[in-house]
Amino acid sequence: MVLRNLLVVFSILAVTVRGVNMVLHERRPAPPAGFVRQGIAPAAEMITLRVALASTNVAGLEAKLISVSTPGSSEFRQWLSKDDVKAFVQPSPDAVSALDAFASANGLTPTVISPNGDWVSITLSVSHANELFATQFETFTHPAVAGTITRTLSVSLPSELVGHVEVLHPTTDFPEPNARLVPAISSLGKRGISPSCNSSDPASVVTPTCLQELYGIPTTPATSSGNALLVTAYEDEWAQTSDLETFLKLDRPDIPSGTTFTVLSADNGTNPQGPDEAGVEANLDIQYTTGIATGVPIQFLSVGGFDFPTALLDTTTFLDGVESPPTVMTTSYGTTESDLGNSMATKICNGYMALGARGISVVFASGDGGVRGNHDFPGDDCTNNTFMPVFPASCPFVTAVGSTQGFAPEKAINFTGGGFSNYFPAPSFQSAAIGGFLKTLPSDYPGIFNKSGRGYPDVSLQGWNFQMVADNETILEGGTSASSPTFASIIALINDRLIAAGRPVLGYLNPFLYTTASTAFNDITIGHNSGFECPASSVAFDAAVGWDPLTGFGTPVFDKLLAAAME
Ligand SMILES: *[C@@H]1O[C@H](CO)[C@@H](O)[C@H](O)[C@H]1NC(C)=O
Ligand SMILES: *[C@@H]1O[C@H](CO)[C@@H](O)[C@H](O)[C@H]1NC(C)=O
Ligand SMILES: *[C@@H]1O[C@H](CO)[C@@H](O)[C@H](O)[C@H]1NC(C)=O
Ligand SMILES: *[C@@H]1O[C@H](CO)[C@@H](O)[C@H](O)[C@H]1NC(C)=O
Ligand SMILES: *[C@@H]1O[C@H](CO)[C@@H](O)[C@H](O)[C@H]1NC(C)=O
Ligand SMILES: *[C@@H]1O[C@H](CO)[C@@H](O)[C@H](O)[C@H]1NC(C)=O
Repeated sequence: MVLRNLLVVFSILAVTVRGVNMVLHERRPAPPAGFVRQGIAPAAEMITLRVALASTNVAGLEAKLISVSTPGSSEFRQWLSKDDVKAFVQPSPDAVSALDAFASANGLTPTVISPNGDWVSITLSVSHANELFATQFETFTHPAVAGTITRTLSVSLPSELVGHVEVLHPTTDFPEPNARLVPAISSLGKRGISPSCNSSDPASVVTPTCLQELYGIPTTPATSSGNALLVTAYEDEWAQTSDLETFLKLDRPDIPSGTTFTVLSADNGTNPQGPDEAGVEANLDIQYTTGIATGVPIQFLSVGGFDFPTALLDTTTFLDGVESPPTVMTTSYGTTESDLGNSMATKICNGYMALGARGISVVFASGDGGVRGNHDFPGDDCTNNTFMPVFPASCPFVTAVGSTQGFAPEKAINFTGGGFSNYFPAPSFQSAAIGGFLKTLPSDYPGIFNKSGRGYPDVSLQGWNFQMVADNETILEGGTSASSPTFASIIALINDRLIAAGRPVLGYLNPFLYTTASTAFNDITIGHNSGFECPASSVAFDAAVGWDPLTGFGTPVFDKLLAAAME
């Protein structure tokens, strides 16, 4: 009854509580599928809320980023320093004083928690938070999450914080408990198979040698200093050095089998070694970066904690504090865009904007549920034609990588995540590519999606039957999880050549991909992304000539991409 009354109150945009004018900040009609309401949260429970303060000049940073990343610009690839970026991202003095006044009036002690000062945290009781933000925290359970989580379906801000506070987290954002983009299937593989792609066998195993032959990726080691490729890891996914060694002996016998990676940690993330500690996702990402980006230093950033939006955010704030960041970052995890509110998704996406401006190519797997979210599951409603975009792939400041399968011809695989954002408009450099694709849809097309949103993926690459090692077993894995680290490795190798030639690295890729590099790809024109589980007859997109939301511009041709990068 109490909850029903509150929902009525929240359906209007502004209310007055005890003389304070409250403005609705975020609300969602229901928790995401799988989360079950268990009643109101205990009043005395203490919660720590992260508060994002409005940045000094995000629009200025975006304009600068477009300028430095667009071929032909007078400041092309003149990437910004950590402090240059901070000048744009740090909170405006007005935002800081508004929060300080609010905090001291309410007995709160804000603590700055990000290098750019744009995030602070406050710890308070549930009852105090309910009162200050006109909300009602509840507890929720999920079959895949231990214990309960505390969230709310609606949160408001006192009017004096409106325009100064951009995000309150965790409030209406829910964590995806299984953000890993490897479909939950693997099959045992054999050792001693031919490492080359077998074009007469569409189910042929993919190895580093196969990928090198298919896309013309060099096997000679990179030599430039100042280059590194960072692999992110969430959800207690741990990469095993002994499995990497076994993999390299098997699949890269031409490089030292002791080649390894550096472990970095955020939020107390660890990387324990031993039997049964292998994470398939972490091992896949580490094996296909070390195995493809020959000679490039590989970093493994293990991010602790179970809240996926927080972990994404803390990855960006970790790198905001690093003086000499990696030149490429790859992430094989994602969540359905609507699991996050617009404000949190926008803040995380702007974090990638800041990394791009520093010359980091931010690469993400595009999702494994075709047009229906990050995964599709047995029993999903495959007749629901409202498509569900995947985040962070839907953020225009990342480069999203979809998956293909087969060699002659290479086709889009059924689960390749693709579609259009409901939160982020298409950047102008994408509009011709999207317009071309939309013309291929019949006038009575039944799929429901946002035609003005950012389209993804941007590019694609093989994503099925990758031979890898986990717990000393040879297995075959797939997913856009396999495609993203491989594409990121290609970018890292191109950066090596650029640095050796005294040129700046590629940085934010998309304006380059949609202009000078758009023809450096094999156009993939066959495939239907209805999902891994949903039958092929269910409504989805079809690959087409030119850019499409299954494979982007297609799969990379190393020499053409290198030539475009050197222009
Ligand atoms: C390639 O695949 C075909 C069809 O499965 C098979 O007959 C052939 O032996 C394979 N070639 C190699 C070199 O493995
Ligand atoms: C990391 O560990 C320290 C020491 O145990 C603890 O105080 C801190 O809260 C932890 N941080 C996070 C983000 O879990
Ligand atoms: C179809 O999916 C959309 C997006 O997830 C959801 O909002 C809607 O309620 C679904 N429709 C039905 C009839 O289940
Ligand atoms: C479609 O995308 C635009 C641009 O990002 C956005 O403003 C609009 O709210 C979206 N529409 C829906 C129904 O999500
Ligand atoms: C892995 O398995 C191989 C046999 O397939 C064995 O020779 C090797 O000792 C094993 N390595 C470890 C670390 O268990
Ligand atoms: C999707 O493709 C994979 C890989 O080819 C295949 O194993 C799976 O059965 C396909 N799913 C459907 C529903 O056809």
